[in-house]
Amino acid sequence: MLKIALFNQKAGVGTTTTTLNLAAAYHRKQRPVIMLDMDPQSRLTEVFRHTGIDPQQALIRHYRDGVPLAELLQPLRNGMQLIPAHAELMQLDTAFGRGPDTLRRLSVALQAAAFQHSRGVVLMDCCPVLGVIALSAVVASDLVLIPVSCDYLSINSAVKMDKALNALTPVLKRPVPRRYLLTRADKRKAMTSEVEQEMRRLFGNEVLLSKLYEQASLAESLRMGQHIFEHEADGAAAQDVMALYYELQDVVKQLPGAVAA
Ligand SMILES: Nc1ncnc2c1ncn2[C@@H]1O[C@H](COP(=O)(O)OP(=O)(O)OP(=O)(O)O)[C@@H](O)[C@H]1O
Ligand SMILES: [Mg+2]
Repeated sequence: MLKIALFNQKAGVGTTTTTLNLAAAYHRKQRPVIMLDMDPQSRLTEVFRHTGIDPQQALIRHYRDGVPLAELLQPLRNGMQLIPAHAELMQLDTAFGRGPDTLRRLSVALQAAAFQHSRGVVLMDCCPVLGVIALSAVVASDLVLIPVSCDYLSINSAVKMDKALNALTPVLKRPVPRRYLLTRADKRKAMTSEVEQEMRRLFGNEVLLSKLYEQASLAESLRMGQHIFEHEADGAAAQDVMALYYELQDVVKQLPGAVAA
């Protein structure tokens, strides 16, 4: 399965929004989709709270009780699967330390048969903290997708993310493939084009061409527990998400190793 970690150390940049809607885009293309909520705030899990999932069967049970990840997979009404998050996930750093075994544990767990579908995709929605949880997702991923909201402060956080991911190269003995996704873009604002220009100057073609524009429908749908294709399948936001999906198809083809596009 293709594994994508969605992560930015800056909060509120649209990481969960991107995870949910990108998952839905893969699902529309008949790709098996698993979402891992890796944020103790459980925002993604909350989206599905009223769909009969059991929030106690969360990722922390794998770490705390050794429950295999496959047993934590919960089917969602729309055909995708979710491993929920739980507030206890916050204690991962203190309970298990930051040793290499802890950091690789998720990566090893994702080698189980349930995660081997060649056309499948695992999307990991990370919390905005560079701790064990997010690092575990990065270690387990084929690609890190970094949502960057179109404001000036976001450029600093993108630079920090770049440094943090580069620091992992000697540990992983490979560079961490990454792409930056501009989010909350607004054509009417000069700030959007200035942020885009600066991001492209700094990170070149690691900055995706597709962007997620500021759209009320994206915020509304998240609040209503829906992805954008359930909420407004014909709208501009849904088109933005599909453009991102198609661009990622090309990105994945360029990744080292045999990963399903
Ligand atoms: N493109 C967008 N257009 C409009 N609203 C958006 C967009 N992206 C995100 N939002 C809104 O911004 C808020 C934060 O988004 P989201 O929860 O996806 O960010 P996050 O990076 O996951 O935040 P956190 O760091 O808290 O996990 C939400 O209310 C969401 O609806
Ligand atoms: Mg989030």
